[in-house]
Amino acid sequence: MRTKLIAGNWKMNGSLADNEQLCKAILAGMNASQTAGVAVCAPAVYLSQLQNLLSGTAIALGSQDISSHEKGAFTGELSAAMLKEFGVRYAIVGHSERRQYHGETDTSVALKAKAALAAGITPIVCVGESLAERESGKTEEVVKRQLAAVIHENGHCISEIVVAYEPVWAIGTGKTATPEMAQAVHAVLRAQLHAASSVAAERVQILYGGSMNAANAASLLSMADIDGGLIGGAALKAADFLTIIAAAN
Ligand code: 13P
Repeated sequence: MRTKLIAGNWKMNGSLADNEQLCKAILAGMNASQTAGVAVCAPAVYLSQLQNLLSGTAIALGSQDISSHEKGAFTGELSAAMLKEFGVRYAIVGHSERRQYHGETDTSVALKAKAALAAGITPIVCVGESLAERESGKTEEVVKRQLAAVIHENGHCISEIVVAYEPVWAIGTGKTATPEMAQAVHAVLRAQLHAASSVAAERVQILYGGSMNAANAASLLSMADIDGGLIGGAALKAADFLTIIAAAN
């Protein structure tokens, strides 16, 4: 049985004061007997602050990106070794906003996942189709192509990744995939993992992301292949994030 994972993606939000308040409120509201894993993926400048706030707690720390390079002349990038020094356990790779605004490709995302895995950081690999792709019946083809690149580069340790299915049309729009729509895509991804490795199919957590909130989390999380959530807007409100965490237990 896979445990569930609820990860907040704070995107470009937060401040020293807001982060402290949010983390303290989440920690105060978490149930000691919860089984689901919890993580927050924060802007890189706050990782040091969050390492101090969260070390020894039940909230793991994540970054929103990671360099595929080990070190050197890559202005603005952050290596896996650097992130590791700040207690980073998860790194989101290939979020649709990075694919869209920063030109990330299936191959560059796969190499980022590889760099994370080499350093013992779990990549949260994001896949998902645009509205045009869904409407033209290409959802399956797109998500399989995106995951195939990651499997190709990381076949031997593919059971160590986390996958997040985030339909682009559902991100920040309030339009959520229905539990059945999400489950159908998760099942496709699970089968693809199975073809690569039965261990991976068993172990890899496949999260749903895209307008998951306090009201719809329980029904999404009840689906057989939905192993958690990657939460944007609702992760910035302690009460909402706590309701989602509770729904995962
Ligand atoms: P929202 O939950 O705000 O739709 O964002 C989802 C997301 O992109 C998480 O990575």
